[in-house]
Amino acid sequence: MTFLAFMLASALNGLGDVIDQPLTDQPGDKVAGKRIFHDREKGHCLLCHSLEQSDGLFQGNIAPELSDIGRRLTSGQLRLRIVDNTRINPQSIMPPYFRTERLVQVARQFEAKTVLSAQEIEDLISYLETLQGPSQ
Ligand code: HEC
Repeated sequence: MTFLAFMLASALNGLGDVIDQPLTDQPGDKVAGKRIFHDREKGHCLLCHSLEQSDGLFQGNIAPELSDIGRRLTSGQLRLRIVDNTRINPQSIMPPYFRTERLVQVARQFEAKTVLSAQEIEDLISYLETLQGPSQ
């Protein structure tokens, strides 16, 4: 599918560039979200991203800096990007954290499992919303 057709299909699905509906009834926990963001077994977001507020020693430099991401994007925009960033940019190297279809070479024990749970995604969003710019 071309990018344009893809965007059109997304728009027709009512998807746009947001997922407004939270994935769980339980509100996100920003403290847990911070842990998931830094955890190498979980989000490992710093593999690619950097974050001024983080004391994580090794940070990535191949993805946008996130220090003010809570100001730049709404929770619905954050949710879509974490769930499956390829819905915005099909070429994106950012892994889809909550998608079970269209995955290749998945080990059997991970089949039909998402990288993060719905609650973990909501926790991450709560944490990212606190990132309102450096020096706070
Ligand atoms: C393998 C590299 C990689 C990892 C790991 C990764 N990302 Fe990304 N991310 C990217 C890239 C590259 C982009 C730029 C958009 C694109 O791909 O077109 C991006 C974009 C984003 C954006 C939008 C940024 C903006 O300025 O609009 C957010 C928010 C985001 N990532 C959050 C996360 C979070 C949270 C995690 C961890 C759960 C994560 N990313 C893990 C590579 C990564």
